[in-house]
Amino acid sequence: MSVHSISDVTCAEYFTSLCAAESEVQRQLKGLVSTLDNVPPMYIDPLQGAILAFLARSIQAKNILELGTFVGYGTLWLARALSSDGKITTCERDKRWWPIAADAFEKSGVSSQVHQEKCHAIESLQNWLNLDTPPVFDFIFIDADKSSIPVYVDACLPLLSPQGLLIIDNVWWQGKVLNSDDHQKRAEVLRQFNADLAKDARLDVVMLPISDGISMIRKKAFL
Ligand SMILES: C[S@@+](CC[C@H](N)C(=O)[O-])C[C@H]1O[C@@H](n2cnc3c(N)ncnc32)[C@H](O)[C@@H]1O
Repeated sequence: MSVHSISDVTCAEYFTSLCAAESEVQRQLKGLVSTLDNVPPMYIDPLQGAILAFLARSIQAKNILELGTFVGYGTLWLARALSSDGKITTCERDKRWWPIAADAFEKSGVSSQVHQEKCHAIESLQNWLNLDTPPVFDFIFIDADKSSIPVYVDACLPLLSPQGLLIIDNVWWQGKVLNSDDHQKRAEVLRQFNADLAKDARLDVVMLPISDGISMIRKKAFL
């Protein structure tokens, strides 16, 4: 049977009910965000969270990087993939979210494995790239400002381990990228970026048709 006859929402709800249960702390984070004025629910959905955690577990990721912490909801999904010697570095420039995320990591018992980079993601990436021995990440999740995605990918690729996975969220930008009549700057940038990525001979790229579009990237030379 083709899945196209079933709505995406039905599929997502079914999957979520079976294998993407949020933790109590994650539910509390959502409750908190819902009380804040003018703050959209910017976190990934449980379907994405469970898939990301599954992928990170599959490659036994030990050193995870997330760009865009927000309140730490997505970080907590990634933390489910960590073994006791694994760690996550998560970057957030907006200081309003630092203590909320820190509290969620503490309550979830993962704070010793999560390092919060409290600055602009590009600043962190440039600092690492300038080191004699830059850190190597085996799982990178890009989920910060969408217009900088191309810049983030360029900066992240040298930091990605040979067998690592780089994941980019919102590559459809609310579906606008899929509408070729939409000429808003960000839609154009992401449309061109997706096309360039698909043609990049160095990379193996897959786009998952879930949520707002997720791209998964590996370095081809090491396949
Ligand atoms: C979509 S939210 C991240 C959601 C989070 N990954 C989750 O799933 O729970 C994007 C976050 O990136 C942060 N952000 C935007 N631009 C950034 C930048 N240049 N450096 C660091 N953080 C940034 C925003 O403040 C926001 O909190």
